[in-house]
Amino acid sequence: MDWGMQNRLSRIIKPETKKTVMLAVDHGYFMGPTTGLEQLDKTVNPLLPYADTLMLTRGALRYYIDPGIDVPITLRVSGGTSILNTEMLLHEGVTCSVEDAIRLNASCVAFSIMVGARYERDTILAFAEIIDEARAWGLPTLCVTAVGRDMVRDAKYMRLASRLGAELGADIVKTYYVDDFETVTESCPVPVVIAGGKKIPEREALEMARGAIDAGAAGVDMGRNIFQSEDPVAMIQAVRAVVHEGAGAGEAMELYESKKSEAAARQ
Ligand code: R5P
Repeated sequence: MDWGMQNRLSRIIKPETKKTVMLAVDHGYFMGPTTGLEQLDKTVNPLLPYADTLMLTRGALRYYIDPGIDVPITLRVSGGTSILNTEMLLHEGVTCSVEDAIRLNASCVAFSIMVGARYERDTILAFAEIIDEARAWGLPTLCVTAVGRDMVRDAKYMRLASRLGAELGADIVKTYYVDDFETVTESCPVPVVIAGGKKIPEREALEMARGAIDAGAAGVDMGRNIFQSEDPVAMIQAVRAVVHEGAGAGEAMELYESKKSEAAARQ
């Protein structure tokens, strides 16, 4: 693998644990000012010391994030439809060039493909072009396997979408945690990370992360279950304990509670 590619990847997937905590705050690209991200910088800045990479759009990066930070950026380069357009939702195309991603010093670019949906071909072919271009510059790609509302989220589907992303040439695949998740990671030749999905109780989110790591995931690309938590800073530390330190969900929950109490005591 090219040195630059390997270096960028090792800034995201930590060589010591071969795991990553990706902090996803790119939701605005189709959801607008998502709960918790209305003032993105206020939510995200305190979380940065605990994120292995920050995943967001170029607008959010330029308008909300200080260029002096030392956190690798995973830049979302796909989009094109909003949450209002249910018929076209996730018929995504390129929304940011690889050239601009390099200008922004991105360490990875992320693109959503919509396997099994009406527009799958457009999203897959557009992603393939991004992969070609990004690879030419030693820039890794993250394949986001997007799942439509009326599609079944099971291991069979996640295996298909994840493997397809890897065969296209993605360097990391992001998918959703499902039963029999080990069959997804085992049949995907590149690291697999899980999205968190809609906000669920902290304990359940930590159990999900634990289950994914135990089933071979390389980490999480988690958003709402961190930034919509009652205490996002405590939550990201608890997620880190699961991903990087082998903590069980119970242990991580204790850490969450103790960090939350410490923060409350300081106020
Ligand atoms: C969706 O495609 C976005 O890329 C989000 O970054 C992703 O869903 C992860 O965020 P969450 O954990 O909130 O689902």
